Amino acid sequence: GAVRTPLIAGNWKMNLDHLQAVAFVQKLHWTLKDAKHEDGSVEVAVFPPFTDLRTVQTLLDADKIPFALGAQDLSPKDSGAYTGDISGAFLAKLDARYVIIGHSERREYHHETDEVVASKVQAALRHGLVPVICVGETAEDLEKYGASAVPVGQLKTALADVPADADIVVAYEPVWAIGSGQAATPDQAQDVCAKLRAVVAESLSADAAERTRVLYGGSVKAANIASFMREPDVDGALVGGASLVVDEFAAIIRYQK
Ligand code: G3P
Repeated sequence: GAVRTPLIAGNWKMNLDHLQAVAFVQKLHWTLKDAKHEDGSVEVAVFPPFTDLRTVQTLLDADKIPFALGAQDLSPKDSGAYTGDISGAFLAKLDARYVIIGHSERREYHHETDEVVASKVQAALRHGLVPVICVGETAEDLEKYGASAVPVGQLKTALADVPADADIVVAYEPVWAIGSGQAATPDQAQDVCAKLRAVVAESLSADAAERTRVLYGGSVKAANIASFMREPDVDGALVGGASLVVDEFAAIIRYQK
C-alpha cells in the first residue's frame, strides 16, 4: 500500500468521559513526540463518544495535536424529530473527519441492517465526512460461509449508490476477533481485505480501490500490528481495547514493518 497513508484508528467505544479523554489525549500526544504521525507517514485518528467530541476537538486545536477526530455513529437523517440521534452536520461542525458506520456492535445491539448502514454512508458523504464502513463475519457465518462472503455482501450493499470519487475507509472486523484476544491471522486478514478492495473497484472505480484504505480490526495489539501491516492490502488498523491504553496504542502507532 505505498500510495496509501496508513491509518491507525482508536475506537474508544463507550469508554472515557470528557475529562478522562483530555488526560488520555494529552498523554498519548506526549508519548508520541517525534513519532511517525508527526511527519505524516502514519495518520492517527481517535473516535471518542459523542459527549467527548467538543472537548477533544478543542484540545486538538489548542495544542496543535495532529490526530484526526471521528465519531462512532451518525443518524441517516439530517435534522428533525429524531430524539437521541446525532446528525452528520453536527459532526462536521466539530471538525470530525471520520465517522464509523456499521460497527458490529451497532448491528447487534441496535439491529442495524445493511440498508441502514448504506443510508448512514450516504448521510456521512452528504456532510463531507469520511465513512469508516465496518464489515465482518460472525463465528457462525465463518463456519457456514467461510470468511469473505458476509463482509463482501455487507460492503456491496453499503457502497450501492456511492459515487466513484467518494472518499471512504473500509474496516474488516471479524466479529469473532473483536475483544476476544484471538486476532485473525495476517493471511486471513489479507485475503478478506483484498476481496473488499475488489468490491471497491467494482462498486466505485479502480482508482478508488487504489487509494481507499482497508483496515483490519479485532484484537490488534502492539505485538501483532506489524504482522498485519506487512500485508499488501491491509492499510491500517481499527483498534478497540488497546486504543484505551496510552503505551499500548502508542506502540501500535510506532509499529515497524
Ligand atoms: O472497532 C474496533 C474493535 O471492534 C476491535 O476491538 O478490542 O478487539 O481491538 P478490539
